[in-house]
Order: sequence, then structure tokens, then C-alpha cells
Amino acid sequence: MNARYADIYMTLRRATLIAAFHLGPVLKPFLKIGYAQFAEQERKISKRYSRCDKLYKIEIKPDIYWVGGIDWDIRNFHGYLTQRGTTYNAYLILDEKIVLVDTVKHYLFDEMLSRIKEIIDPSKIDYIVSNHVEMDHSGSLPKILNYAKNATVVTSTQGEKGLLRHFKKDWNFHVAKSGDTLNIGKRTLHFVHTPMVHWPDNMVTYIPKDKLLLPNDAFGQHIACSERFDDEVGWDILKEEASKYYANIVLPYGDQVKKALSALSGLEIDMIGPSHGIIWRSLIPKILEEYTKWSNHDTEKKALIVYDSMWGSTEKIAFMLRDGLQEKNIQVTMKSLKTNHISDVMTDVITTKMILIGSPTLNNGMLPSMGGFLTYLKGLKPRNRMGFAFGSFGWGGQAVGEIEKVMKELKWELPLEGVNLKYIPDDEELSNVKGIGNELGKILKE
Ligand code: FEO
Repeated sequence: MNARYADIYMTLRRATLIAAFHLGPVLKPFLKIGYAQFAEQERKISKRYSRCDKLYKIEIKPDIYWVGGIDWDIRNFHGYLTQRGTTYNAYLILDEKIVLVDTVKHYLFDEMLSRIKEIIDPSKIDYIVSNHVEMDHSGSLPKILNYAKNATVVTSTQGEKGLLRHFKKDWNFHVAKSGDTLNIGKRTLHFVHTPMVHWPDNMVTYIPKDKLLLPNDAFGQHIACSERFDDEVGWDILKEEASKYYANIVLPYGDQVKKALSALSGLEIDMIGPSHGIIWRSLIPKILEEYTKWSNHDTEKKALIVYDSMWGSTEKIAFMLRDGLQEKNIQVTMKSLKTNHISDVMTDVITTKMILIGSPTLNNGMLPSMGGFLTYLKGLKPRNRMGFAFGSFGWGGQAVGEIEKVMKELKWELPLEGVNLKYIPDDEELSNVKGIGNELGKILKE
């Protein structure tokens, strides 16, 4: 078909599809062929809208409601692969004063508003607590303040500065210092600053009357689901998502997490409502235990091999290292950067003591996939690890040295010199590599 007829064909087809889509329900009895696909399209669209239409009240404590938004379709959260989507959790507290704690990403404002309207007239909100400036939680502040025109925004010192820089609005701010309280009737809200968990402005809101902690990003998980509580989802999925979240968001701030855990340790808490994912009520000891381990950089004596390969030589080395480690009964996880997203590799990094990283040399450096991963890894600063670098080359051979340089910057222990093999490794070289794997296994077990 030439281009002209193709254009005419496509225009007619598009017109037919649009007409059939809109007239589909009317013409349904008369259409035998093709209706199914229009109905499917319609179902998808109506499902999208029904997310706002079929809301229902979710009361998590007497007079405290979850009024967040569920982001079913997001798969990339500033570079983090969110394969299960996410939620932005906001909480509405009804007392003599009405308080909204945090908001949602801007495009889910209507969903949050609908949830609030199921409960109260949004113009009656007295306070909006902004525990964290990042726009997945503050993005709907300007819109909700159009309804709650007299509301006061309660935030930390850094929070006020951040919100002013983000929105350039001279809202009615109330700056809460760490330890400050705000009486709202039967309840008193307590604010504790948790700087760098994971932005300078972060604070948590604690409500003693309800033993409820609203810590914003801390204890979050990127998971979109209809369930709201931990026991409705199960530990396996939640541990996976909470650890991925910690590894990709919170990991550099272990010391600050420890301070925050210490500050919260004296509080009576029977519910933790983070700003992403489910609310903890049955598994609080388990998630606190994991946060303690992660913030201490505690690891298990196992190995992770992260690599990429051009013509298969670096991959052969990776497999022989694996075999050598496994001969010493070391648990090994293989992550090729061709098939694994760097945010998923990080989930393994936080629990693994020995990390082997391999790349061939390309243009006097390493493969771009490995360069990207190492940049990400450096920023997330996993500590107390053992490292080992490996690779292959045709000439030059700089990649292994560059990988080792990053490991040294991270202050990892490098118990053995890296392996760097020219072109295609032969049987003897591969056998030596396996021996190195044995050696690394022995060192790891010590
Ligand atoms: Fe979920 Fe730091 O924002």
C-alpha cells in the first residue's frame, strides 16, 4: 500500500474506531464483529475513572482515616523500578481541629479529595502537616489549600524553606521544632525531626492517644494494592518491597535512621502509617528488626556477582567465580545488568557481605551499564562489604582498576587482587578463576 492510500486507510480506520467506541454500547446488539475490542477499551477507560468513583472510607483508628492515592501504573519512581506501583498515603484526623497529614502526588489529587469529601467538607481542614517536602507528598498542597483556604501548614524549619522554594507561596506556616506539640482537642500531635531520613526537612508525627506513628517515607514500600494493612498482604512481599525501598532510598542515611529509631524507641506505638504502601500494625517488630539490621549495615555471609559482558568472556569469569564460591558452600546470587534493573540489584546489595563486580573494558573504561550501576552504588554508600573486581579486555584493560577504585572509595575490604583476562579466557585461566572463587569463599567463611 503506498503512503497516500495508507494515510486514507488509517484515517478511515481511526474514524471507525472512534465512532464504534462511542456508539459501541448503543450498537452492541447489532455489532457481532469487533465489538469485543471496543468493549475492552471502554472497560479500561471506565476502570481508570472508577478509581475515583468507587471510593470508600478507610478508618485506620477511631476518627483517623487513610485518604491517600493509589498509583497503580507507575513503574519508574525517579529511576527506581516500581514493578508493583505505589501509593501516596495521606491521613485525615477528626478532632476539635481537623488535620490532614501529608498529601499525594499532584495527579492523584482528585482521588485524595474524593476520599476527604466522603468524610468531611475539605474547607473545614484546620491544619495540614507536611512531614516531608518531596513532591510525591507535597504535590497536592497547593490544590488542597484552594479548598482549605484558612488552613495552617505545619512543617519543620527546613520544611518551610523547602516548601517556599518549591511552591513560592506565602502560606500560613506554623514551624514545628523537634519535640514540639500541637493540641487539636482530645489529641496532641508530637513532632520529631528526622533529618536526612531521607531529606533535611523530614519529620515524623506521633499521636500518643492512638499510639500511631506517621513517619512519612520511613518504613515505606512501593506497592499498590487495595489492602491497607500489613497482615492483609503478608510478610514475604512486604519484606521484599520494604528492603528494596530501604536499599534504594534510605541506605545512605543509616546513621540518621539509627538516631531516629532511638528517638522513637521510648514511644508506645501500635500502628505505623508510612507515606508509601501498607500500614504496619501486625508486623511492627519485624520491620523494626529489619531497619535495625539495615541501618547497622549488617549483612549475611553470602556473595552477589554483578556483571555485564560484551562477547561473553566476562560472563565466563562470572560463572567460574560462582562455581568456585559454591564449591565452598557459599550462597551466590548472579545479576547480569543486561536483564536486571539496578534498583533490584540494590535489594541484594543490602543483605550481602561479598560483592563481586565485573565488566569488560570498553573505550578505556567500563561498559556504560556498569558505569551507571557504580554511580548509583556510590551514591547509596553500602558499607562494611568485601569487594572483588573482574573483567576481560582486548587492549587497555582499565575497567577492573576503575571498579576497584569505586570499591575503595566505598571503603570496602578487597581481600584479593582483581582478575583481568585478555580476550577469551582458556581452560587453564578459567580453572584459576575457579580457584580464586574457592579462595574468596574461604575468606568469606572466616
Ligand atoms: Fe516519598 Fe522522599 O518522598
